[in-house]
Amino acid sequence: MAVTPLLIGMPEMRQSSLVVVANRLPINDNVALDGACEWRRSPGGLVSALHPLLRHTPATWVGWAGGTGPAPTLPDVDGVRMHTVPLSSEDLRDHYEGFANATLWPIYHDAVEQPEHHRRWWDAYQRVNQRFAEATAQVAEQGAVVWVQDYHLQLVPGLLRALRPDLRIGFFLHVPFPPPELFMQLPRRAELLHGMLGADLVGFQRAQAAHNFAQLVTKVLGLPATDRRIAVEDRIVRIGAFPVSIDTAEMAALADRPEVADRARRLRHDLGSPEQVILSVDRMDYTKGIEQRLKAYSELLEGGHVKVRDTVLVQVAVPSRERVGQYQILRDRVEREVGRINGEFGRVGEPAIHYLTQPFDRTELAALYRIADVMAVTPLRDGMNLVAKEYVAARVDDAGALLLSEFAGAAAELSQAYLVNPHDLEGLKQGLLAALRAEPADVRARMQAMRAYLREHDIRAWARSYLSTLDQSGLLLTRLGG
Ligand code: ADP
Ligand code: F6P
Repeated sequence: MAVTPLLIGMPEMRQSSLVVVANRLPINDNVALDGACEWRRSPGGLVSALHPLLRHTPATWVGWAGGTGPAPTLPDVDGVRMHTVPLSSEDLRDHYEGFANATLWPIYHDAVEQPEHHRRWWDAYQRVNQRFAEATAQVAEQGAVVWVQDYHLQLVPGLLRALRPDLRIGFFLHVPFPPPELFMQLPRRAELLHGMLGADLVGFQRAQAAHNFAQLVTKVLGLPATDRRIAVEDRIVRIGAFPVSIDTAEMAALADRPEVADRARRLRHDLGSPEQVILSVDRMDYTKGIEQRLKAYSELLEGGHVKVRDTVLVQVAVPSRERVGQYQILRDRVEREVGRINGEFGRVGEPAIHYLTQPFDRTELAALYRIADVMAVTPLRDGMNLVAKEYVAARVDDAGALLLSEFAGAAAELSQAYLVNPHDLEGLKQGLLAALRAEPADVRARMQAMRAYLREHDIRAWARSYLSTLDQSGLLLTRLGG
């Protein structure tokens, strides 16, 4: 298959003129049983969005390779230079697991779990952000465009501007940005806002997030702000919503491959050829609403609305942030509940839930999407949720019902999905039943509309829209062939 880079890599474009800075590199080291180290694509929305985007485009990706100790030297991946930033075990504990994932993550997701505050974590957050800023300053050429990603690195735009005022700096937040009453809890709220304002453009998934940010900047820093522009000293910082997306055409082409169709048939057979398959694919995260979904499914089984012989639930839940206490507790609870439901409702050779915690390659994911009569994506809060978009893109047959939480960013765009409030157990049960019992013509019409939307609003459109706003001179887009 011919390779078409999304940001069309012009030969004259150098790797150091476009620098993406993200906590994680797009590949993760995975130590095999024999001790050998192999590299594979890291699961998670950020990498799923940016990896196909940059493939074969001269660029540098500054990030962490997933371990501790000295940074490994990595070869280019699909033409993208990998610049690794080392994390010590203290950095991992206090920056990644601590401030990023036990302070910011819960606050940014409606505090569905209690955020923790420790001064030591803040010190690590500053230290690691400084290290990322210095690494970026080193690799970026004069006047380069630097695109900083996500909540782990909110101080980088400000730190980088101080080191390299010549750079054009963008910041994009993949997760929700909370309402003022939640953000105000953060002891270091002013520093975090200042850090983001070091960028020329601060992008969010939804307009509401940009609005929250503008309100906070005025309230905490006393700066005049609208939902589009903020005046910071002698500069204007632009803000706005840029809903992230996927490589729709790539997923559709993959799902359409004969081997994927064969694999899908085999999977369905291996599941006992049920009349209907419900699928969920999540990182094991308390924001994803896995427990609420299991409860709804269990009550439907108990009430006799759903029969194990006719319907199966496949729950893929890849472990995530495994040393963070709240994630360990969640995994234990999910596994206990899956065991209980299977014990109570399953039969020999016919479990009620097929529970899988492995990372899958894209082909297997596409085959799973193709057998899902109902795709249940019901997070309690989610910045976007790319799984929902991948499912729609994979349904080249226009079949399949998407059950989608109103609290996922994707709901603002995929309005033809069967929308539910995952906090409302009865509503969730009714939503599942409605999706299972929907008329094929209705399912088809909704899927067609969502597929048409995603064909247009794909990852290329996202990058074009963001980068043309960041680089109003149009220079970057011209060089990228946009
Ligand atoms: P988040 O960024 O919170 O993890 P998203 O739904 O936006 O959530 O993105 C998750 C990404 O990770 C998707 O691209 C999905 O395909 C991928 N993914 C999720 N589970 C697995 C898995 N078990 N194996 C491989 N990739 C996975
Ligand atoms: O989407 C939020 C996010 O933190 C991304 O930055 C990342 O792609 C994903 O979740 C996975 O998280 P982690 O990098 O902690 O494994």
